[in-house]
Amino acid sequence: MTNVIAIANQKGGVGKTTTAVSLAHGLALRDKEVLLIDLDPQGQTAVSLGMKAEPGAYYLLTPPPGGVVTVKQWIRKAREHLWLIPGDISTNASQALINAEARPSSYIADQLRPLVKDGLGLDYIIFDTAPSVGGIQERAIWASDKVLVPTATEFLAADGVRKIYEAMAKLKKEQAWTGYPPRPVSRLSPYSLLFISSFSKIGSHLVSKSKAGLRTSF
Ligand SMILES: Nc1ncnc2c1ncn2[C@@H]1O[C@H](COP(=O)(O)OP(=O)(O)O)[C@@H](O)[C@H]1O
Ligand SMILES: [Mg+2]
Repeated sequence: MTNVIAIANQKGGVGKTTTAVSLAHGLALRDKEVLLIDLDPQGQTAVSLGMKAEPGAYYLLTPPPGGVVTVKQWIRKAREHLWLIPGDISTNASQALINAEARPSSYIADQLRPLVKDGLGLDYIIFDTAPSVGGIQERAIWASDKVLVPTATEFLAADGVRKIYEAMAKLKKEQAWTGYPPRPVSRLSPYSLLFISSFSKIGSHLVSKSKAGLRTSF
């Protein structure tokens, strides 16, 4: 079964792309077949892997009628076991279309179906997302089994965590999203430990308002 993971936070510069690329690379090193999908118009997932930003996400999100160009043509081999659907500025056009036409919450999950079912043997699909609300991000979360929320140790970053918890709670309640609530911290580094303590102090009242619950450790 393919495990789908979204890396998301409405705040920018908090380590989403770094986490997406590092997690994908680490899983590939463990011989898992991983497809990384760049849903951020900045296209930095490709850049991080030494590759070119290209409109792969655009063709995933807005396939042309008739299917002459399919998203499979945009799957690039990044390294052993690691595949990439790159994104670029054209992802903005998909975002506008998805919002303008109010595509359903299941829209990205629907687009992924051929990639999951066509015998590609994927163990993981990982979305790197842009720092914004609604549109692509919301549908990427809906398509995911798990959501990872990287954050920084600042007050406004904690507010970003509160917002994404609220967005996920809403998706669960109103759109029947079946993913798990995230556990937003790790104990991997002194940076993370610092985060745990400061987040507990600074962020807990914000998060408690969301009524979504927060774990400060695994
Ligand atoms: N765990 C970390 N500790 C310190 N710096 C980090 C960490 N993760 C990412 N960074 C740095 O923070 C900056 C923003 O990271 P990036 O992954 O591009 O964030 P985002 O995708 O959320 O905008 C980059 O310069 C990156 O190298
Ligand atoms: Mg990024």
